[in-house]
Amino acid sequence: PAASTAELVSAARLSGTGIAAFNVITLEHAEAITTAAERTGLPVVLQISENAVKFHGGRIEPITAAAAAVARGASVPVALHLDHIEDEQLLRAGVDAGVSSVMFDASKLGYEDNVAATARITAWAHGQGVWVEAELGEVGGKDGAHAPGVRTDPAEAAAFTAATGVDALAVAVGSSHAMTERTASLDLELITRLRDAVPVPLVLHGSSGVPDEHLRRAVGAGMTKVNIGTALNIAFTGAVRDHLAGSPVVVDPRRYLRPARDAMTEAAAHLLTVVAGTKA
Ligand code: G3H
Ligand code: ZN
Repeated sequence: PAASTAELVSAARLSGTGIAAFNVITLEHAEAITTAAERTGLPVVLQISENAVKFHGGRIEPITAAAAAVARGASVPVALHLDHIEDEQLLRAGVDAGVSSVMFDASKLGYEDNVAATARITAWAHGQGVWVEAELGEVGGKDGAHAPGVRTDPAEAAAFTAATGVDALAVAVGSSHAMTERTASLDLELITRLRDAVPVPLVLHGSSGVPDEHLRRAVGAGMTKVNIGTALNIAFTGAVRDHLAGSPVVVDPRRYLRPARDAMTEAAAHLLTVVAGTKA
């Protein structure tokens, strides 16, 4: 059934485990991720980014409605979240479309401007019953660049959380977005210091580049929500490529979308168990 991100993150935090949040671009993503959650018996967050909405022509309703319908039909709890939203109009449209939570991303702004914008959005969102994640210390690589080595300062993170009232905080601890190799090394000691300094759950972005063992240790050190996008796309696109290479005359998209969706399900199931700590 449909669940709220707030309840899933709270439950994970209480039990000292992590909750995986996967990026949804197409209907097949929502289906694969939800099937993986059902197969592993674990809850999951489906998240839709501003970039994904732009891909769908700037309208948030169609893909959000599709993901929501998949969530409602699931046998495990599935929450819907908006990821990396910079455009306030889009954020409001997403809340109207029924998401339970949003990540408002003002991390490109300077500290004071980030605080002001995030506090204003958070107050509004809380009035709508919506849970808010924000980011401090930009996690690199959103344009495919390499990690700039930015780190979130624990004292600043505590001040930011108090000043904005956010429900969760995305922090920069060594990961970078859109990595296609799992070579990121996280600063586990910093994660522990952030966990001790910040009263709200921490969110790891750019988790695709983090090896399994480091993901487990990051959760153990205090990460709660673990955002994963690229890893599923690697599985999906790899399967499409393999299928098309062997079938030069294929026309029906279901012929290659089915193995692609299956490969994505496999990848998601594995990562769900790693983040939840249910696989050694
Ligand atoms: O917000 C989404 C995540 O940070 C995904 O990052 O594609 O590098 O796994 P990733
Ligand atoms: Zn991210």
